Amino acid sequence: MCGIVGYSGLRPAVPVLLNGLKRLEYRGYDSAGVALQVDGGLVVEKREGKVASLAKALGGIEGSSGIEASTCGIAHTRWATHGPPTRANAHPHVSSRRLALVHNGIVENHAALRGKLRAAGYEFVSETDTEVLVHLVDSNYAGNLLEAVTEALHDVEGTYGIACVAADEPGVLVVARRGSPIVIGLGEEETVVASDAAAIIKHTRQAVYLDDNDVARIEGGEVEIRSLDAMPVTRAAAEIDWSDDAAEKGGYEHYMLKEIFEQPEAIRNTIRGRMDADRGNAILSGLNLAPRELAEIRRLLIVGCGTSMNAGLVGEYAVEDFAGIPGEVEQAADFRYRNPIVGSRDLVLAISQSGETADTLAAVREAKDKGALVAGLVNVVGSTIARETGRGIYLHAGPEISVASTKAFTSQVSVLLMIALKFARGHRMSRERGMEFVREIEALPGLVERVLARNDEIAAIAGRFVEFEHSFFIGRGYLYPVALEGALKLKEISYIHAEGYHAAELKHGPIALLEKRVPVVALLNDGPGKDKTLGNVAECQARSSPVLGIVTEGDEEARRAVDGCIEVPPAPLHTAVVPATVALQLFAYHVARLRGCAIDQPRNLAKSVTVE
Ligand code: F6R
Repeated sequence: MCGIVGYSGLRPAVPVLLNGLKRLEYRGYDSAGVALQVDGGLVVEKREGKVASLAKALGGIEGSSGIEASTCGIAHTRWATHGPPTRANAHPHVSSRRLALVHNGIVENHAALRGKLRAAGYEFVSETDTEVLVHLVDSNYAGNLLEAVTEALHDVEGTYGIACVAADEPGVLVVARRGSPIVIGLGEEETVVASDAAAIIKHTRQAVYLDDNDVARIEGGEVEIRSLDAMPVTRAAAEIDWSDDAAEKGGYEHYMLKEIFEQPEAIRNTIRGRMDADRGNAILSGLNLAPRELAEIRRLLIVGCGTSMNAGLVGEYAVEDFAGIPGEVEQAADFRYRNPIVGSRDLVLAISQSGETADTLAAVREAKDKGALVAGLVNVVGSTIARETGRGIYLHAGPEISVASTKAFTSQVSVLLMIALKFARGHRMSRERGMEFVREIEALPGLVERVLARNDEIAAIAGRFVEFEHSFFIGRGYLYPVALEGALKLKEISYIHAEGYHAAELKHGPIALLEKRVPVVALLNDGPGKDKTLGNVAECQARSSPVLGIVTEGDEEARRAVDGCIEVPPAPLHTAVVPATVALQLFAYHVARLRGCAIDQPRNLAKSVTVE
């Protein structure tokens, strides 16, 4: 999704802006641009494609002739929504050459606004919804950018994170948000603003997160925040706890591989301080629920999208399995439109790595309106979902830069198992079983390490799959979400069509597609259901599909039943989910690498999906 960076201070703005944009590249984009205040005017430069070509146009990150003196500007990476990724559609957009603006989000009433602005004499040069914003601000401008932006935003329907500069107000940036994040990084006599903390941690860890309907004026180190009603607003600064190094590749070829290998540590960080081994329980103080309140919860309703939703399915199974209360997973996008039955004895858990996914956020708001208890399971500290839920559990998995989510999934599953334990202990689970459950969760990092040790074997197996164009992933019970997640990873980074199915469901239709060019990846971990899936494997082989099995180490029966296998360590199925998924992450990674794909920035994808 689109990225915003802005700078006001004493240093040259170009390196700060370009480095910030590079930090946001992981979010996915197709064009980039900057607007700089120079000698009482604005210099705007935009390019299709990568930040590198914009940097080249500006004369390189280290120094850019003519503009290196500028100490204030805004920059943007655009992920096309309205209009193709051309130079004309790239941001910043300008009005009268005196104002420039960058925007994340969608202006829903852009057609009506465009009509009015055209009638007032404004000419449009792009197909974007954003261009109406800059003309709208211009039409309200009388020398005070803060006032003009505030006034203009009253007429806007939709979502925005914006940053804006005016030629006539040197050193001044105005930013605003509704539904699309803006972080203000506070430095010494300087301020770096961005849509994502990754762009500012190089400069400062002190950040202020704007709330919806906040508008801020920034000049050097001075920050003034107001509401859309022009009332002063105070927002406390928070410390960003990610190091700059954590957002670098650290010697790995791709962020995705780095993040796959970080999983033992990420899970350790997720569970640290949250396990009570003596009482056989989990300590989840962020949920802010007394044991009595917990005991009164009748249902766990999980909302999320993509990988986060797949993790949610594991939570649904575990909470039903161990706590004996109903669990349910709902695709977040549908939640508010289908009028779900939710009440005060439901705990709605919103799962989101980024904490900014528009559909998940909408589900949070709907659940709150319906009187449910709402908690977040979020990785990015200070993100909108984390703040709006007010209660919840941070993953502490560290920054996830790769578009394909890996370590967030395994940390999410770790937390969901802790939640299942917490609910179970509040109901029927004994202390002894709770203590054993704690040990099972604590074993997760070690299980993942054993899979990572097989990286070379997995790369070799992947070599046999690069030529295929279609595939199925099958599993049952706890391994069904693993099949969904394995298929999602493969399709998004290798572009091989991959479908995750319940193993039993295959014969209800998809089996029609099986033949020797359509391999099947079968989750065959030793445990309940394995025999049935072995039966499904035989059905696939009878249709000539080659079968790759994920099998438990030393399970000769499963090994013999498949055409190739990846071994994973023995574990009860509710925790076997984690090492099995890691095996499929590595498998997808190596297939994509051998196919020469852009692993960290797959085509058409964006890291945090802030539009519906
Ligand atoms: C897949 C992937 C997406 C995200 C989904 C939700 O690898 O990354 O499917 O899981 O867009 O994102 P979050 O978790 O940030 O809400």
